[in-house]
Amino acid sequence: MASSILVFLLVSALCLLSSPAPAVAQNLPPIVNGLSFTFYKSSCPKLESIVRDFLNKQFEKDIGLAAGLLRIHFHDCFVQGCDGSVLLDGSASGPSEQDAPPNLTLRPAAFQAINDLRALIDGQCGRVVSCADVVALAARDSVVLSGGPSYKVPLGRRDGVTFATRNATLASLPAPTFNVTQILPVLSLINLDADDLVALSGGHTIGRGHCSSFSNRIFPSRDPTMDQTFFNNLRDTCPASDTNATTSLDIRSPNVFDNKYYVDLMNRQGLFTSDENLYFDSRTKSLVLDFALNQTLFFEKFAFSMVKMGQLGVLTGGNGEIRANCSARNGGKISMWPVIDQHGEQTAAF
Ligand code: HEM
Repeated sequence: MASSILVFLLVSALCLLSSPAPAVAQNLPPIVNGLSFTFYKSSCPKLESIVRDFLNKQFEKDIGLAAGLLRIHFHDCFVQGCDGSVLLDGSASGPSEQDAPPNLTLRPAAFQAINDLRALIDGQCGRVVSCADVVALAARDSVVLSGGPSYKVPLGRRDGVTFATRNATLASLPAPTFNVTQILPVLSLINLDADDLVALSGGHTIGRGHCSSFSNRIFPSRDPTMDQTFFNNLRDTCPASDTNATTSLDIRSPNVFDNKYYVDLMNRQGLFTSDENLYFDSRTKSLVLDFALNQTLFFEKFAFSMVKMGQLGVLTGGNGEIRANCSARNGGKISMWPVIDQHGEQTAAF
């Protein structure tokens, strides 16, 4: 009897050890033609560990960088696709996407980290990896290293050679003052739906917002959908609508990627109109409740929608270029064209 209990315990322990990490999502949307999970397998086999190791060290110094990197990927993909255009500095042809109002609060340290990663990867593999792919990997690792789900990132994006105008940037990124009715049409233009909106908004489980992004909810008076104590605290942080201060997006666990953001919303402690309204709109409320109660479900859906978002409008094959410097297009230089084998793997770059 004792020995059969021992066997049972041993088998159970082995099963537990060999079962996959619970947060790893298996359900993925279709992968766009030209992208693959093995894209850099021969041309830069250590790519993913280079990114992970570098960010691990950076986050020990500043965990806020994770939020900055995740947001850059979102702002890249929503505006003319995930082509690294948000990374470009302005040029004689006009101000860059970075100069458009929604991008003014992107963190300089996050842009710096992408450039540092670019140089590190270049040193080990040569110029074969696009900046847009570095951004997508950095966003995934920001999620993972903050406690969120891991997921596989399809790779093979090429870098764009143009950036969007100020107006195009403004039109592509929903404002924090928007409610669900105003946000959904912006998302439907890029084939994202209400479920994607609820899942992706969970990115607000880390990071910060400036007073100007939520002043519409506390001035001249409290948005009635906001919790009174939460309001009092926000008014302490932002005594005037133009105060240049910041506060956490998720008051329960500001630096941890978890489902507490949805618990905030249920307690009427979401920071932006675009957050809190998810709890009040009938098209999104039930998923907010589901995610608040079930973190595993949130992690799965978040990973699914991130892979979907990460493939928006990508340039592949011979389109675009592989930038030498993520902040500037290659200019007159001949762009690098990769050779792709039949498995969707990059085998060389000219
Ligand atoms: C309806 C869509 C969205 C709106 C209106 C929105 C709006 C905003 C605003 C206004 C800020 C704060 C800017 C500031 O005041 O400094 C912010 C921060 C942030 N957003 Fe969003 N966002 C949206 C969707 C997303 C998505 C899809 C993600 C990623 C999956 C994301 C990730 C983040 C992160 C991580 C931060 C914190 C950045 C930091 O601390 O530097 N957001 N967002």
